[in-house]
Amino acid sequence: MKSILIQAAWFCILLASFVTGLHAAFFDVMKFGAKGDGKADDSKAFTGAWGAACKAPGANTITAAGKFMAGPIWFQGPCKGPITIDAQKMNLLALPDPFAFKGHGGWVTFSQVIGVTINGGIFDGNGATTWNLPDCGKNGHICPLPANLQFNAVTGLRLIGLTNRNSKQFHLRIGSSKDVTIERYTVDAPGNSPNTDGVHIGQTSKVSIIGATIKTGDDCVSLGDGVQDVHVEKVTCGPGHGLAIGSLGKYPNEKPVLGVTVKNCTLTNTLNGARIKTWPGSPVGSATNMHFEDIIMNNVSNPILIDQQYCPWNQCKAGLASKVKLSGIGFKNIKGTSSSKMAMKIDCSPAVPCQGVVMNDINLIYKGKDGSAVSKCTNVKPSIIGKVVPAACSVHK
Ligand SMILES: *[C@@H]1O[C@H](CO)[C@@H](O)[C@H](O)[C@H]1NC(C)=O
Ligand SMILES: *[C@@H]1O[C@H](CO)[C@@H](O)[C@H](O)[C@H]1NC(C)=O
Repeated sequence: MKSILIQAAWFCILLASFVTGLHAAFFDVMKFGAKGDGKADDSKAFTGAWGAACKAPGANTITAAGKFMAGPIWFQGPCKGPITIDAQKMNLLALPDPFAFKGHGGWVTFSQVIGVTINGGIFDGNGATTWNLPDCGKNGHICPLPANLQFNAVTGLRLIGLTNRNSKQFHLRIGSSKDVTIERYTVDAPGNSPNTDGVHIGQTSKVSIIGATIKTGDDCVSLGDGVQDVHVEKVTCGPGHGLAIGSLGKYPNEKPVLGVTVKNCTLTNTLNGARIKTWPGSPVGSATNMHFEDIIMNNVSNPILIDQQYCPWNQCKAGLASKVKLSGIGFKNIKGTSSSKMAMKIDCSPAVPCQGVVMNDINLIYKGKDGSAVSKCTNVKPSIIGKVVPAACSVHK
């Protein structure tokens, strides 16, 4: 009886995929009124193609080949089936004026969709004119500036071979999503472009980022609260601020971080290497099971850094302890050069000292007139495996 039910279920799945296959259709943005001259605002053609592809049953593909310019594009689900955007020959440029994006927070946004694939594509945020605007929110300036690409509540996201350039703010923001794969990803923005994280992911589970080259002015990859089961591999960072878990503990009701592996990455001339940061005076929170392995540091200012007093622009209550508990942290096979003497700093909270920190085979070299590299540990007693240079926390307490 049971096996008949299983067979029936399989038959239904096969039938569904067959029907889905039959309905696969293509939706070319040119047929939805795109000019494709790289000057006219083609956003309506993109949302028009999306609307049609989304309403039609089956696994549909939107195609865009050529040069396009666009203001905010909002791709809203739910859709009848998964959607692929074939952007292999697409070069999309954002309108330069940040006010065109007022109230959007993103330039190209996908919301509440099951199954999105973007194949290729160049997304150029045209951000240069916005990078030197006065601080967000002050003097009536647009706030927040738009992220190049933003995914909210998407299940089954695949970004393959995408190039993301010169965003006005984050290049890629993913939130409240599940099952995310990013492969052969490129980010290119100058080292002095503020707040232009290569990827920021929060409240999302089952993520793999495999193969990326990220040059930008802020974090290379940053993982916020509520990320679970995240794998970051073969990522090259620099310039920029390096790989970060956090910042955590800025807001109430943040979700725990659970399971992050960062492997086989190279950082060159970045401000930080492998970093975990939490705000002082934070609400209670936790981050567990975070591993950095096989990482090469080339002239990185803070190659290994746990900072539980993260407080940029003095936005926090100084002197209060962070209540975000960090545990199960590994740094393994991390080699290369530090551009500052303090190559390794593990500054944990006095309220909730770090637990289960393991340093395994580390060799960080500093060549300065003021001597060789040092480390500093506060509120943590790391376990040492193999050879660790600079000697971890043997002197400082
Ligand atoms: C990953 O490891 C391989 C083999 O050691 C190496 O050739 C490659 O450069 C590494 N990639 C990165 C991004 O570090
Ligand atoms: C190393 O990093 C420092 C500080 O970030 C920078 O001033 C210097 O130019 C870098 N050296 C090389 C060789 O890139």
